[in-house]
Amino acid sequence: MNLAILTALAGMTIVVGTVHAEGDAEKGRALANSLCKGCHVIGVDNRHGGIDSTPSFFLMHDKIDNYRQRLWSLRSRPPHTAYERLDEVTLDDIEHLLAYIGELERP
Ligand code: HEC
Repeated sequence: MNLAILTALAGMTIVVGTVHAEGDAEKGRALANSLCKGCHVIGVDNRHGGIDSTPSFFLMHDKIDNYRQRLWSLRSRPPHTAYERLDEVTLDDIEHLLAYIGELERP
């Protein structure tokens, strides 16, 4: 096998790996906007929004090690269990939400 083919194969592996590993922060932002914003502060857009008893997405960003697992199990955590629209949230969506939360910056 010549070097050009090897290089091409290595490049393909990297591309495939990236697609599977990372969520898309822009998709995460859109999801947060449509599904979470009513109850959580999700960023500067609704900095003073959300409802009192919810952790803000800024807090989740600061304590991401603590919140990653809670996000993965989101759909089985009250009160989300009672909120039918969250039944649509897939594991890919949670990757996107995590990417969005990971990139958040406090104002
Ligand atoms: C109907 C209101 C509502 C919506 C919509 C909602 N949440 Fe929540 N969420 C809450 C409340 C209330 C709590 C606090 C629960 C508690 O402290 O027991 C909470 C807690 C959480 C927690 C912490 C869970 C824990 O057990 O510590 C995470 C993570 C979370 N929400 C993520 C999300 C995400 C992501 C979305 C959108 C996909 C979302 N929530 C949509 C009301 C909501």
